[in-house]
Amino acid sequence: MKILCLNGPNLNLLGTREPEKYGHYTLSDIEEEMRQRAKASDIEIDFYQSNIEGELVNTIQNAKGKYDGIIINPAAYTHTSIAIRDALLAVQIPCVEIHLSNIYTREEFRQKSYTAPVSIGQITGFGKHSYILGLYAIAEYLNKK
Ligand code: DQA
Repeated sequence: MKILCLNGPNLNLLGTREPEKYGHYTLSDIEEEMRQRAKASDIEIDFYQSNIEGELVNTIQNAKGKYDGIIINPAAYTHTSIAIRDALLAVQIPCVEIHLSNIYTREEFRQKSYTAPVSIGQITGFGKHSYILGLYAIAEYLNKK
């Protein structure tokens, strides 16, 4: 099973960015933990982060035929990007949307997700564990398919 974990804008700053909301761990810390969990479950996992919407769209397009599932934290693009939503729809790769913070307890503009309706499901509010839960969720979904 091959999974792509995609990360949107400003997630490269995790660790120093608003740690009271997003935690003190870096994106590399999260990647490392996910790699260990994936390995234990015989899952291959690749990571990609970009601050640029079009690069995320290109990466989703290029994922077709290469990956069985996607875990995505679109970050701020969650709330704005019809382009990322359309790319996910176009490739038809099962996807789990995740967020570190609980977007439903935050500002109103964060409570709308363009990508959740085209995902299998959404995991939001568990800090870095959202990523781990996302990994288990996509693996479980793909195993049952
Ligand atoms: C986020 C929530 C988004 O609203 C925000 O723009 C982010 C991070 C999260 O993981 O909690 O950059 O996706």
